[in-house]
Amino acid sequence: KILILDFGSQYTQLIARRVRELNVYCEIHPFSKFEITPDVKGVILSGGPCSVLDEGSPDMDMEELGELPVLGICYGAQLLVKKNGGTVAKSNHREYGRANLKTVDSHFDLLKEIEIGSQVWMSHGDTITNLPDKFQLISATESIPVAAYKIEGKPVYGIQFHPEVTHTTQGKIVLRNFVVHICGASQDWTPDIFVEETVANLKKQLGDDKVVLGLSGGVDSSVAAMLIHQAIGKNLYCIFVDNGLLRKDEFEGVLKSYEGLGLNVKGVDAKSRFYDELKGASDPEKKRKIIGRVFIEVFDEEAKSIKDVKWLGQGTIYPDVIESVSVNGPSVTIKSHHNVGGLPAKMNLKVVEPLNTLFKDEVRNVGRSLEIPDFILGRHPFPGPGLGIRILSDITPEKVRILQDVDAIFINGLKEEGLYDEVWQAGAMLLPVQSVGVMGDERTYENVVALRAVASLDGMTADWVHLPYEFLGRISNKIINQVKGVNRVVYDISSKPPATIEWE
Ligand code: XMP
Repeated sequence: KILILDFGSQYTQLIARRVRELNVYCEIHPFSKFEITPDVKGVILSGGPCSVLDEGSPDMDMEELGELPVLGICYGAQLLVKKNGGTVAKSNHREYGRANLKTVDSHFDLLKEIEIGSQVWMSHGDTITNLPDKFQLISATESIPVAAYKIEGKPVYGIQFHPEVTHTTQGKIVLRNFVVHICGASQDWTPDIFVEETVANLKKQLGDDKVVLGLSGGVDSSVAAMLIHQAIGKNLYCIFVDNGLLRKDEFEGVLKSYEGLGLNVKGVDAKSRFYDELKGASDPEKKRKIIGRVFIEVFDEEAKSIKDVKWLGQGTIYPDVIESVSVNGPSVTIKSHHNVGGLPAKMNLKVVEPLNTLFKDEVRNVGRSLEIPDFILGRHPFPGPGLGIRILSDITPEKVRILQDVDAIFINGLKEEGLYDEVWQAGAMLLPVQSVGVMGDERTYENVVALRAVASLDGMTADWVHLPYEFLGRISNKIINQVKGVNRVVYDISSKPPATIEWE
């Protein structure tokens, strides 16, 4: 495997994604906390927001890497230079954006096949002005004297541009040169092999033990369930809770499809319990907490009825477990997303998380390899608290009914008109606002709903989608004509940041 040591760059996960696109397994660890195991074939030092010139900036002992091949990117490259006696200086202008390689010495393996003039992406405030002895220059751009270098006689390289971002047009080749040719890492990290190895390991780990797992209808829990199911069959007990905040007909539909996959799944109708507990609560975080707590209670009761269950299966994915390097202090909680985070502690079960090394798109690929149908794998993300955070203010069964009907018209419309897959996430919000309308000769005073559709990669940032006006017009007519209680539809045209995807 390849080890990526994180110095806090916003691109670190992207480096990992690119390495894995080469079918090479890699892991991200903080620069200050890692272990060199015999299977490590090479190390990548990430960029970072700090300056090597600042007192107390992130530093590490390179001796720990032994003779392994090393690629320093940006901060990593500057750190290697500074530690070996070269000069890094504040650059007059921040080097940010596109640049072109003016010289390329392709004798060195790192830049083999890279063309002169090739576009690269720069993002740094400091720059290398003087290389230490024994450092060989391999590339420069118009404005920076050192775009890439190698340490003589050692497989240690540094580059000041970012090969992981797509604006570096030949970046993939640079990473391949390093990972495959210089490190000699094997390109055998494929979904099929992952399934084979994971199922074999789960068999060993779980033996004849029983596992309980909460299905949500989403991609992650479904793929996790299928992997564990392949390993232990009927000893996997799945629980699917209807919290009364799911999409229209979702409970029945999803339950059926899980049964079709051969899963041993129990549907639990807890609608009224959730509605009772939520009565009168209107603060978003309070609603999240209630929904999370009641879910745990219901799940716990169900799990207790399974005799001798030892494990809790979870669909946790890699971005949730990567230890982040915080160089700018702790970040504030905008929303408490991990609504089922309290489960393992409360239940006294061992946890099994077969997806905790995978990125989201890899989970989908593994799902395909497991032959999980596309309508499960292609689903938009849906928040754990469901419609509970799309009904602004307090929740009643009547409001749920209205929003389910609105949401179904919108989502089905997207599917019918071939727009569903172009959108990362879509849904409707029921606003705590009444507006005046006219229906025939009658005055109406009814609810307003907002439609939202966003494009995103990971939910961290998002753009509103420019859905065709004609489509929005048809959907609006349908909603107002068919859903009793709604007389006005608006479309949300805010991006994240500064807005968020959900309204609560
Ligand atoms: P925001 O609204 O923070 O949403 O821009 C980003 C992504 O997270 C989902 N989301 C949640 N998921 N529990 C969840 O499991 C939550 O409490 C929660 N709140 C937001 C949201 O749907 C979007 O995909």
